[in-house]
Amino acid sequence: MVYVIGHRGATGHAPENTLKSFNKAVELGADMVELDVHLCATGEPVIIHDDTVDRTTDGSGRVRDLSLDDLRQLDAGNGEKVPTLVEVIDEVSGRVAINVELKGLGCVNQVHEVISDAVGDGLVSQDGVLVSSFHLGMLEWMRALSDDVRLGLLVGDAPGKVLAFAQRVGAYSVNPYHKRMSLEFVSSAHGLGLKVYPWTVNEPGDIARAKAMGVDGIISDYPERM
Ligand code: G3P
Ligand code: MG
Repeated sequence: MVYVIGHRGATGHAPENTLKSFNKAVELGADMVELDVHLCATGEPVIIHDDTVDRTTDGSGRVRDLSLDDLRQLDAGNGEKVPTLVEVIDEVSGRVAINVELKGLGCVNQVHEVISDAVGDGLVSQDGVLVSSFHLGMLEWMRALSDDVRLGLLVGDAPGKVLAFAQRVGAYSVNPYHKRMSLEFVSSAHGLGLKVYPWTVNEPGDIARAKAMGVDGIISDYPERM
């Protein structure tokens, strides 16, 4: 069985990175929800993909220039709000694992603190959290803060040296762009004990191809298609 990871929740069905989207992903059978983190001006890790609010809300401006109160005023789609990482963990606790993608540079300490508190409070288990990023430096930073945290190295176009980097940081998974993923890559990753979670796989033919390569999980806007 492939591990089902809802991309920004269930983006095919609800506004991305909102509580509604995460709840929808759970309803549709996701094992894990993926979410994107930036820091806002008042220092809270908030869940939004871009470094501005322009595309996904009715506001404008950079996330890092807006306070949490400012963000609360915005509509992130269908009346949904931009949630904090704490709110998402509270919402999905006990129902699904989380894949926290570090987007905003400099959010590592705060994300680590939120996750540590959540694990300490029993809201999530340590192995129910994957921290992922395209930025090796942020993963190295996170690893310096925690020996235990599971790390996922995201890869775009050039998977060449990825496996060596993943090993260096003690990664749990490599998360490649599905169209650049080969059977050889998946096999090599498995040979090193790494899970493979490609993104963002939505079309039936692409889902079948990924499964045929033996991936461990699939990140998708449509959890129900897995
Ligand atoms: O984590 C997989 C995927 O979310 C990476 O790309 O741009 O959707 O955050 P993006
Ligand atoms: Mg993401």
